Formats: sequence, C-alpha cells, structure tokens
Amino acid sequence: MTFDTADTDNRTVTSQYDEYVMPIWKSLNVPVERASDCTLEDFDGNTYLDLFSGISVTNAGHNNSAVVEAAQDQLEEFVHGCSYVHPNAPVGELAERLAEITPGDLQKTFFCNSGTEAVEGAVKLARKHTGNTEVIALEMAFHGRTLGSLALTGNKAYKKDMAPTINDVSHTPAPYAYRCRTCDGSCSNDCADELEHIIGTHTSDDIAAVVVEPIMGEGGIIVPPEGWLERVSEIVHDHGGLLILDEVQSGYGRTGELFATEHFDVEPDIMAQAKGIANGMPLGAFTAPADVADSFESGDHLSTFGGNPVACAAALATIDELQGGLVDNAREQGEWLSSRLADLESSFDVVGDARGLGLMQGIELVDPDDTGPMGVAPAPDKKLATAVADRLREAGVVIGVGGYYGNVMRFQPPLSIDREQLETGVDALEEALEAEVADA
Ligand SMILES: Cc1ncc(COP(=O)(O)O)c(C=O)c1O
Repeated sequence: MTFDTADTDNRTVTSQYDEYVMPIWKSLNVPVERASDCTLEDFDGNTYLDLFSGISVTNAGHNNSAVVEAAQDQLEEFVHGCSYVHPNAPVGELAERLAEITPGDLQKTFFCNSGTEAVEGAVKLARKHTGNTEVIALEMAFHGRTLGSLALTGNKAYKKDMAPTINDVSHTPAPYAYRCRTCDGSCSNDCADELEHIIGTHTSDDIAAVVVEPIMGEGGIIVPPEGWLERVSEIVHDHGGLLILDEVQSGYGRTGELFATEHFDVEPDIMAQAKGIANGMPLGAFTAPADVADSFESGDHLSTFGGNPVACAAALATIDELQGGLVDNAREQGEWLSSRLADLESSFDVVGDARGLGLMQGIELVDPDDTGPMGVAPAPDKKLATAVADRLREAGVVIGVGGYYGNVMRFQPPLSIDREQLETGVDALEEALEAEVADA
C-alpha cells in the first residue's frame, strides 16, 4: 500500500488531529501535504512562504534534493542496526565531520534523536566528568520538555502541572537587554556577574555545568551583549563547572555562522545540537573534547535509535549544503533583514525592539501606552503578535510567534531564502502591522 493523499483535504487532517492526536499540538493552521525549499503546500492546494522552517529545522530548504538523495541511498543499504551495537559508516563519518566543524577542541559525539535528549545527555556527561551535580540555566531559557530539560527551562508556562522535575537546578538572569532588570539596558554585563551571586546563594558550589543558548530562541531571539558569554564562561570555570552551549536552535548556519558560538570568544565544554543538523530527519547530538567525553564509561548512556544511519547520511549532506553557500546566504540576507526590521522599529510605535543575527531574527510587539513587567520597557502585546501572524497566514506567509511573553514575531526561514522571498515576507509583515494599527 502506498500513502495516498489524493482524497485528503485540510479538514480531514485537522479533524483526525482533533480526534486522535493528543491535544497538545500548537497549530499555525497550515496543514502540509508537500514542501519544497521555502514553500509549503496544504491539502487544498494553497501555497505559503515559510519563514519558520518547522521551528527552525529545515535550514537547507524543505526537501533539499541532495539531502533527500543521501537519505534514500542509505535507506536502500539498511535503516537500523542500533548504531551503538553495530558500528556503521554514516555515524563514523558524521562524528569525524563534527570534530572538524565544531568549535574549539570538541571531538567526540554521542548521537540521539532530539534536542531535549542532547541537552540531558550533555548534563549527564558534565555530572560524570566533574563529579558534581548542580546545574545552572538561564531564566527564560528553553531546553526541551522531558523532565531533565524541563528543569533547566526557565519558563513556568512549560512547567505548569509538571513538577517535580529534577533537583539541583538554579536559574540566573537572561541577557535580555531590552527588558534588563539589572543594568537599565546599558549592558554593563551585571547580569553575567549575577551568576556569581546565584552560585553563592543557590548552590553548594559543587557546580557540574552552566547551560546556555548562545542566542536564546524560544525566549524571544535574545542576543547577549558583548562580553556576556565570555564572562559567564569565566565564572563557571572558576567554580569547576563545564560550559554547555545549547546550539539546538542557533546552530547549523542559522545565525550566519555554522554555530552561533563562533560570534563569541568562548569554547564550549559540551555542545548540544539537533533541529537543523539533518534538515528534518530526527537527529540530536552532543559533542565534547576527548578528555570530557571519555569520562563516560561503557553503559553510562545509550539510545536505541540514536545515530540512525539514514538521519546521519542526511546530516552529512546537510552540512555539505550549508558549507556550500547557505551559511553565507544566511549572513548576507540576515544583514538586509536586520536593516528592514530596524526600519520597522523606527516606523511603528508597536515595534519595541528588533534584534537577531543572520536568519534568526525577531521583532518584539508592544503596547506603547502601557509599561512592561517591573516597570521596564513598554508592555508586551501578545494579542497583537497573534493577530499579525493570522493576517500573514491569510496573505500566504507562515511566521513564528514566541518569546517569554509570546509577543515576538520570529523570522527563521530556510537559509536558502532569496532576497525577493524575504522582501515578500517583510512587506507582508509591514502591511499586517499597518492594518492592525489602523484597526486598533
Ligand atoms: C535551544 C533549544 N534546546 C532544546 C530544544 C528541544 O528540542 P526538541 O524539541 O528537539 O526536543 C529546543 C526546541 O525548541 C530548543 O530551542
């Protein structure tokens, strides 16, 4: 039997979801029958410009032919043998490639299936290596939904009804300049020094790790001020811990460098990866220098599906595509996008802040007549962000909405996007903002 969708329409799929899929799916109201490059097509034949890449995953473009071909070739060889029981070439080659392309001395990789597993595995490795248990993450961070990563995630919205998670986790302020509570946006990096205070007051000083997204994704596309990550790295090392950088969302070309870490003068002790690594095939990974990685002993960690050979073959082709011009395109288009979003910030009172790097950018929508939490910056306007996204969808453009306050419009398109497509997206955003402001 082949999978035939000829008689399926949008209504069929959404009603199947309503009846048979657990009620946790967050709909953008765009069912997808097929996708290519930056275009999604639904079951009723409508097409959409995709500015969100399935939450920042299809970095090499939907259905990239080189990636599809690499996966198909491996499918014909074999699909599964458990990569920890049967050594195979895609895993070996990908691990060697990651040692070449990841920052600093990162050398040995553990492969899993998702971002949350990559983060939790990284924490286990840090605990094993340091002999310590305590972990610190950032307020407003997002690291996943399984109980370990959820403990690190700094947002009650994801934790409601789910406690208790794992113990020994504390949080330190995020480097959120626009809504900074510690240095009035002057970015003196007091919020980095706050980590020292958190270690002193919340922990016994037996630090296993500090876990940081170099650029925060779900928190609202937050780029730290100059020197912040360097200071955090210094503090965690002073206390005998490891710096775990979560590049699940910011990695694989998204910010105009292969890894966002490259924008900063730091080297991670462990780096978590997923999302863009295999352009949509399920794959996660964490990579560490040999001396850290070798702390794991046989039996300390394993995954039945982790390092699936088809996903690893797709990852190798994805990296070729990224290095073959897509990272450069992300940087180039990102510069243009920054200036257009900065123009929107100047033209609209409701655009409080425009920020990001490469093709990981966002604008924060606000109510200019109301003050934000703790008297800092104008109030976040989540309702406006949702309304603008709805208008964009009606205009055939899919965009992300997120951020701690739910008011950030997120531009995270496939890195293959061209100027004309990007212009179409920004023009549509501008029109939607004009329409919403006029209706207010
Ligand atoms: C920075 C970061 N870490 C971890 C995760 C969790 O990844 P996954 O949904 O693949 O478990 C996400 C997902 O959005 C993420 O953005």
